[in-house]
Amino acid sequence: MPAVKKKTSSVARKPSTNGKHHSVAPQEVAINSVLQEKRVFKPTAAFSQQAHVKSMAEYERLYAAAEKNPEKYWSEVASQYHWFKKWRKVLEWKAPYSKWFIGGQTNICYNALDVHLSTWRKNKAAIIWEGENGDQRVLTYGQLHREVSKLGNALKKRGVKKGDRVAIYMGMTPELAIAALACARIGAVHSIIFGGFSAQAVADRINDAQAKMVITADGVFRRGNPLNLKSVVDEALVNTPSVENVIVYQRIKTDVKMTEGRDHWWHDLMDLAADVCPAEKMDSESPLFILYTSGSTGKPKGILHTTGGYMVHAANSHKLVFDIKDDDVYWSTADIGWITGHSYVVYGPLINGATQVMYEGAVNYPNWGRIWDMIQRHKVTILYTAPTAIRSFIRAGDEWVTKHDLSSLRLLGTVGEPINPEAWMWYYSVVGKKKCPIVDTWWQTETGGIMVSPLPGATPTKPGTATRPLPGIAVDVVKKDGTPCKANEGGFLVVKRPWPSMLRTIYNDNARYEKVYWSEIKGMYFTGDGARKDKDGYIWIMGRVDDVVNVSGHRLGTSEVESALVAHQAVAEAAVVSRPDDVKGNALVAFVTLKGGYNGDAALRDALRDHVGKEIGSIAKPDEIRFAEGLPKTRSGKIMRRLLRELATNGVISGDTTTLEDFSTLEKLRQQEEEE
Ligand code: WTA
Repeated sequence: MPAVKKKTSSVARKPSTNGKHHSVAPQEVAINSVLQEKRVFKPTAAFSQQAHVKSMAEYERLYAAAEKNPEKYWSEVASQYHWFKKWRKVLEWKAPYSKWFIGGQTNICYNALDVHLSTWRKNKAAIIWEGENGDQRVLTYGQLHREVSKLGNALKKRGVKKGDRVAIYMGMTPELAIAALACARIGAVHSIIFGGFSAQAVADRINDAQAKMVITADGVFRRGNPLNLKSVVDEALVNTPSVENVIVYQRIKTDVKMTEGRDHWWHDLMDLAADVCPAEKMDSESPLFILYTSGSTGKPKGILHTTGGYMVHAANSHKLVFDIKDDDVYWSTADIGWITGHSYVVYGPLINGATQVMYEGAVNYPNWGRIWDMIQRHKVTILYTAPTAIRSFIRAGDEWVTKHDLSSLRLLGTVGEPINPEAWMWYYSVVGKKKCPIVDTWWQTETGGIMVSPLPGATPTKPGTATRPLPGIAVDVVKKDGTPCKANEGGFLVVKRPWPSMLRTIYNDNARYEKVYWSEIKGMYFTGDGARKDKDGYIWIMGRVDDVVNVSGHRLGTSEVESALVAHQAVAEAAVVSRPDDVKGNALVAFVTLKGGYNGDAALRDALRDHVGKEIGSIAKPDEIRFAEGLPKTRSGKIMRRLLRELATNGVISGDTTTLEDFSTLEKLRQQEEEE
């Protein structure tokens, strides 16, 4: 074995000549899935009794009814919301283009705010906001409605009309939600750009959408530092001829340059604006927002969502998955700049009349106790966060968690990447004290809302799986030819039928839409993820298909190897990538960060390889393990495996690093590479 290992690494630094290992074409089927997880956790009787969906039998009934007559199911779901005019047809499907609730007219902002004003919720807290510096604000539904109406009028006064695109580039203050809602109210299309993107990325997005207006802030507090957002916008706007006006919200009171005639202070416009602004009657299929997301190649894709269908699924999925009730205090730590913030900070919770916590800054600032302290102070009942955050909390140490009173929590959620069973177990026991169900929610920017997830009062959960599709959602795991995989056989995760909140297209690029999502597997929406379904029909996401690796003729989900590594007591976080190997086709390279007190030495390397061998099998043992101080991540917290793959393969990074959060981690890895 050592001899093979040596040979592997000596040839491995050769640059890849064909890049074949980078993307696994869907014609190569049979992804080997070997991670077996046997633990099962049922919701407690107390939770089930009070839940919107109370048992697996009830879920099965709902699911079966939706399968039998999907249009009837979605029509009933849609009837929960306010429509100015009812639809005449539920669905028109001219593959791969769908239209939902045709002839119907509604307004998502009306559903998020106005519907509550005639109820007791008018004076209920909608948003409990906390700034990173400790600032506190509470906005009731009534107050939010007034602010949104005023901004709607201000936008109209500055020439924004139905269908115009408005770019929004702000930090996490209530004004970001207000800006999105004001656009929706008057029928403008928002394009929210995450506040961490560079001027170039902002300009590209503005130009692609031809935005007429930009709404921004002077800045935002991030890890104790004031970041100037307006100066980024100024730099971006040098090359964006479509932009006529800029509105600037004053958050950090820093000096900014205001361009006469173009730039306006938010507070000046709001002072002048009337607080009555009727919600436009929007056709169900009118565009609601564009959100840019990266693909495996090319420029970011402008994912286009429309009004009625998106509203129906975002709101209903939020209600079912988070079991939302009037006395909940819900907190999603997602930034509104990502899809999770669109669907499960802005629209879902407000349509459901929920009270939510919104937070400006880093959840570990000024220390690792911040998130737990906020849960304790605000008596948060539902927490929705990302596996990467959970793993970093594990690394920081349990004492940060256990010294706080988290007894208000009743439900936990995760999103964004596969959660390693060990991280799941930690979340379940250390945070949830073994009484809170965990909803591991699988979905994408493109799907608009959650597609696969436990219903917390019904579904027995297993650590590491998003479990079953929601009612009305026809998700399956198939081979390249579209035939279903057998139980536990790895394949491609697809959606077999249109769903209301599906993306309608890539903005201005139907050809790319058809190619990326609808050409890989005939007649089905291809998610880009590999997965397997176990004998209970539970879906185990194995990561993006381009993270699936063929080692010695065996296909492995790199996330499974990562899970195995993270299950080892010494490991805090792991990223596994492949590099071409003359002997095995591909070799696995694991980048591993350790918990405090462990030394990255040869003995630990051997122990980890043995451990993976035990957890999965010797085929999955990483050929190389590199200990690192940190892993390169995007600003939304995803590990940038693409960069690690390049580093493992070529020893250099030449690819696009514009979405990287912290360059120093990459630089350290690179230096290490030179030293080795
Ligand atoms: C991954 C985020 C495993 C997946 C809402 C998907 C997940 C991509 C999960 C979409 C999950 C998201 N388990 N993987 N629960 N949730 N993913 O567009 O690879 O930022 O295709 O949307 O994240 O990322 P996006």
